[in-house]
Amino acid sequence: MKVVGFNGSPNKKGNTACSLNMVFEELENAGIETQMIHVGKKKIQGCTACLDCVKKQNQACSLDDDPVNEWIQKIKAADGILLGSPVHFSGVAGTMKSFLDRAFFVASVNGGLFRNKVGAAVAAVRRSGGISTVDSLNHYINYSEMVMPSSNYWNVAHGLAPGQVMQDGEGKQIMAVLGKNMAWLMKIMEHGKEQFPPPEPVAKIMTNFIR
Ligand SMILES: Cc1cc2nc3c(=O)[nH]c(=O)nc-3n(C[C@H](O)[C@H](O)[C@H](O)COP(=O)(O)O)c2cc1C
Repeated sequence: MKVVGFNGSPNKKGNTACSLNMVFEELENAGIETQMIHVGKKKIQGCTACLDCVKKQNQACSLDDDPVNEWIQKIKAADGILLGSPVHFSGVAGTMKSFLDRAFFVASVNGGLFRNKVGAAVAAVRRSGGISTVDSLNHYINYSEMVMPSSNYWNVAHGLAPGQVMQDGEGKQIMAVLGKNMAWLMKIMEHGKEQFPPPEPVAKIMTNFIR
């Protein structure tokens, strides 16, 4: 089994990366392969709402000069994903949001490419905005019929300078518990999927609140 983690920070060795690595450590202890992808410094445009991905049904975004399409296929091939973002103005860092909007829209309108995978999110923050950032990341996971493990608190670790989250004892425990619970959930799903196949996908009803 494999988990792909996306680091939304421009810092490859910053607090978001440290937080993701703490979850990875527990996954690896449980025999699950991990891969980290650094999103933060890439040039990734936001969704242009062209709806080409709806029309073409080719599992791809029409903006094809960045790694988003490659990452969509990486998620599709993985059993689980971890989304990580630093808190920027109490929200998800901009480049990460551009990637997530496009990847999760393409996945949704192409038959639900990420359905029934395990997904979790973490945020690194100096002081405030961790909860709203994790909530925003969770929206992508919840929208995609993914299954989400939890920890013993919200998945936020505190620090300013790169690596400072390692001094946040509670944050470290949150990440470790999340990793253990994620590994456990993934194993249960892997062992149970033949006996209990996932529900059939349904055609999405969109009422758009027009009256
Ligand atoms: C543009 C920018 C905006 C930030 N906004 C916030 C914020 O709203 N609240 C906060 O507590 N820290 C904020 N920070 C601090 C970072 O969240 C914090 O340093 C975090 O640990 C960075 O993670 P990283 O090392 O993975 O980049 C901000 C930092 C930057 C660069």
